Amino acid sequence: MKEHALPPSLGSPDSPDSPDSPDSIAELPDGFDEALPAPFADLWYIVARSRDLGPKPLARRLYGRDLVLFRDGAGRAAALEDRCLHRHVRLSRGRVDGGALECPYHGWRFDGGGACVGVPCAAPCETLPRRRVPSFAVVEQEGSVWACVGPNPPPAPPRWRRPEEEAAGAAWFEAELVMATPLRWVLENFVDCGHTGFVHGGLFRGKPTRVVRAVVEDTPTGVRVETFGESDPQSLLGRLFASRGEIMQHTDEIVLPHQARIRYRFGARSALTVSICTPEDAGTTRMFTRVYVDFGPLSRLVAALVYPVTRRIMLQDQVILEDQAAQVRRYGARFGGSSAADVPAAFVARAFDELGRGTFPRTPGRKKEIEYKL
Ligand code: FES
Ligand SMILES: [Fe+2]
Repeated sequence: MKEHALPPSLGSPDSPDSPDSPDSIAELPDGFDEALPAPFADLWYIVARSRDLGPKPLARRLYGRDLVLFRDGAGRAAALEDRCLHRHVRLSRGRVDGGALECPYHGWRFDGGGACVGVPCAAPCETLPRRRVPSFAVVEQEGSVWACVGPNPPPAPPRWRRPEEEAAGAAWFEAELVMATPLRWVLENFVDCGHTGFVHGGLFRGKPTRVVRAVVEDTPTGVRVETFGESDPQSLLGRLFASRGEIMQHTDEIVLPHQARIRYRFGARSALTVSICTPEDAGTTRMFTRVYVDFGPLSRLVAALVYPVTRRIMLQDQVILEDQAAQVRRYGARFGGSSAADVPAAFVARAFDELGRGTFPRTPGRKKEIEYKL
């Protein structure tokens, strides 16, 4: 782990980010610590969509471990270390045969728990090796395959929708993206509305024109941002979702360390975007996003129209986030300034770091009201 330097002084003395209290969150945390916090290993992460786990083994990474996923003889999803017991060849290069994973080199076969169940060249008098390929906990739930590489997986993975959201989403779709960006920077991006008019301008929001107010606060599980007075009359999504100039209600919630839940309401219509992120390793994040839309009888049509726009937006974020990650690796994370619009991301960064150190949630939680142009 890199050592953290003292917090930097950011912006000019009269800039909106001047610290206003000893516990000010206006300063962005320093340091670009690529190591994944150890406490986060004992969590469920999505490693694949159920539909992607077909007749072939699937190579995936989670928390710096190489996994091979496949379905065992009972059709259950299984995750083993992607390394053959015999001579370390990647098992994901092999095949699944009769529910056993067969290594491509000498054909040794393994079951879903990693036990060797066949050595083709062995003489009849030989016994099978007793050692196993390391296996990992796996749960298949709601069309997602979750795995945990830590020794103490929680009882169950989270649900995509909370009980109060079950009715939401007359129609929905899912999209997936892998980015060469650390998890924390992806989480910050979710609450960083200031980038949208530039990175996604025309598709989602436009150049900042209107002052909005936002309340940013710690929750027991992360950070919540409620934004008031927002409208998006120009962009493609804005025109699709809202009547011209309509004010929308907008809430962003980060559930640490890996979920972003974003809710937009336009009168009786609403959209809920849930992104669940998987740290493949310290510098790579795989993101699964489900978008639920409630537009009455038009829900399916709206979802079909929003899907390609969402994909485009995700790819735009990927380009900018990968550039940022490469630059931070090169120059470090002592940034030269920030504004009120950066406060939500600063809350998320700080809470993420604190959770990794075991000092989050705070009591009482922090709360800050900001104004900025969106
Ligand atoms: S390396 Fe896998 S069977 Fe030999
Ligand atoms: Fe974005």
